[in-house]
Amino acid sequence: MKHLLSPLPYGYAALEPHIDAHTMTLHHDQHHASYVTNLNAALEPFPELHERTASWLLLNLNKVPEKIRTAVRNNAGGHVNHGLFWRAMSPTGGGTPAGPLADAIKLAFGSLEQFKAQFDEAGGKVFGSGWVWLARAQKDGGGLQVMTTPGHDNPMMQGHFPILVNDVWEHAYYLKHENRRADYLKGWWSVVNWQEAARRFDRSDHSAEQEWETDGGLVLEATK
Ligand SMILES: [Fe+2]
Repeated sequence: MKHLLSPLPYGYAALEPHIDAHTMTLHHDQHHASYVTNLNAALEPFPELHERTASWLLLNLNKVPEKIRTAVRNNAGGHVNHGLFWRAMSPTGGGTPAGPLADAIKLAFGSLEQFKAQFDEAGGKVFGSGWVWLARAQKDGGGLQVMTTPGHDNPMMQGHFPILVNDVWEHAYYLKHENRRADYLKGWWSVVNWQEAARRFDRSDHSAEQEWETDGGLVLEATK
């Protein structure tokens, strides 16, 4: 099994004006593609790992040979996180969440607006390259929380199921928004895919634990 780069689930220009086609093209076809290439290259001498999903590798780094552990962490993480990120956005995105996810956000943060403010503040404070997440704990009642991770780390590595994610590496926004990360974060809500977040929330409880440990809820076509 080789890890494969799936096409974007929409066109390169589909998220304009918030994210321009040039940024999307470079981000998917160059950045994400390089993580897939580098992951396959790192794993190539280790056939015992060839059937493992990228999420499994991230969750089991202690079973990955030390020689390639950092490369696997960075590139499996890059592959998983970008797969989640593309689906966290939609050309028909924006609006507000509905159903159980909306209720859980209200319970955890007070209101949708307070959640967005907390998410934007956390994303703005990420030093260097990283990610900002809405994630659900798998223990202690399974509450929602805003988290950040450095590099290409994923909340799964700390026992949290990812619900929603934004990429705050400069390559995600710099061509259009330049140094104004706060503008990028604020405008991102106009493309956020609440349906996908709700789908992930619905499968994030303890009954989904087995699935969570194997694929992190990522669509497996990305890792055939
Ligand atoms: Fe990225």
